[in-house]
Amino acid sequence: MTTAMAPVDPAPPADPASLIEVPPAAAAQPLPEPAVTEPAASDPEVPFPADCWAAIEEASGQPVTWAEQTDRAGCSVWRVTGPRAEWAVKYGRDQGAAVVAREAAVMRRIAGLAPATSYGKRALAGQSKHEAWLMTPWLDGPSMWDVFMPVRLQTGDYTGCREAAADACLALGALHAAGWVHGDIQPHHVLYTAGGARLIDWSWAWHPGMPPSSAYDGGLVHLMSPELMDQVESGARPVATSPADEVWALAASIWWAATADFPRDYRSAAVDPAAFTPVELRRVLLRHQVKMGHIEPWKSLEEVLRSVLASPPGVRPDAVQLGQQIKALGT
Ligand SMILES: Nc1ncnc2c1ncn2[C@@H]1O[C@H](COP(=O)(O)OP(=O)(O)OP(=O)(O)O)[C@@H](O)[C@H]1O
Ligand SMILES: [Mg+2]
Repeated sequence: MTTAMAPVDPAPPADPASLIEVPPAAAAQPLPEPAVTEPAASDPEVPFPADCWAAIEEASGQPVTWAEQTDRAGCSVWRVTGPRAEWAVKYGRDQGAAVVAREAAVMRRIAGLAPATSYGKRALAGQSKHEAWLMTPWLDGPSMWDVFMPVRLQTGDYTGCREAAADACLALGALHAAGWVHGDIQPHHVLYTAGGARLIDWSWAWHPGMPPSSAYDGGLVHLMSPELMDQVESGARPVATSPADEVWALAASIWWAATADFPRDYRSAAVDPAAFTPVELRRVLLRHQVKMGHIEPWKSLEEVLRSVLASPPGVRPDAVQLGQQIKALGT
């Protein structure tokens, strides 16, 4: 794996308490009887609270198997497989609890709003003072990162990649049309199921009826549009990613998945992004214009994405237009 695959962690929120901003409507969903059960002795050492265990048992049947996917910044994600169903279970503690609670609150509002969020209708969630959890159906299928492997390795036919990229654009376009912004678009947050492209990891999503989190820092600097970097740098809070910013992030995500490199060509500018904190890197990028690299194996894709990344927000295509441009590409 190249280092480019590992996303640079966003800076931790300065004030963990400010994360706790889940509106009352998002309080823990009542969970069905039977009453709470404790983990059996044979269960792995997973941290979930008792109401989460109960929900898992109720929804999956027994026995269940557990596979940890990630564990970062107070949040862990597990693939939980039972005889009846398979779930992604996200558990957060302390600072991570607020992040998971916010995702649950978003999920409750967006479930079923667009095809990309349809799986949220089956979500279950709970929270207490220091913990929160969210269960969503496990989405069986590759991520955008996985789908683009043939381009990164320069093998095979790219037709599937073209379709997948266009589907992601259309999925995001439908979300934007419904007034929502995801806020953390990246190739690992787009999954392809038999039903089409699905988006995951909703903690930073916002809508006029659910303002952005005060803890949101604009997401990965590598995928941040110039105007979003300006906004973050200006100190105006909360940071509100616009649909146009998000189209920039999506174009940058497709570029990243296609090359294993971010679109800004750090090497040509003699910038080692790993040598900076995200805040420092953002400041470097605001001071120095870094030109875009290349997508060697797929020049027509490069041309479309380069044009999006170079366009100011007023003339940047929207997500649906980008999807149409990608659909029209040759491979
Ligand atoms: N519903 C789901 N179906 C399938 N896989 C999922 C699902 N939810 C999460 N995952 C997997 O778990 C990973 C981490 O999930 P997610 O991005 O929501 O958590 P996170 O705490 O933000 O982790 P990270 O910091 O690594 O992004 C995803 O990249 C994906 O591989
Ligand atoms: Mg994530």
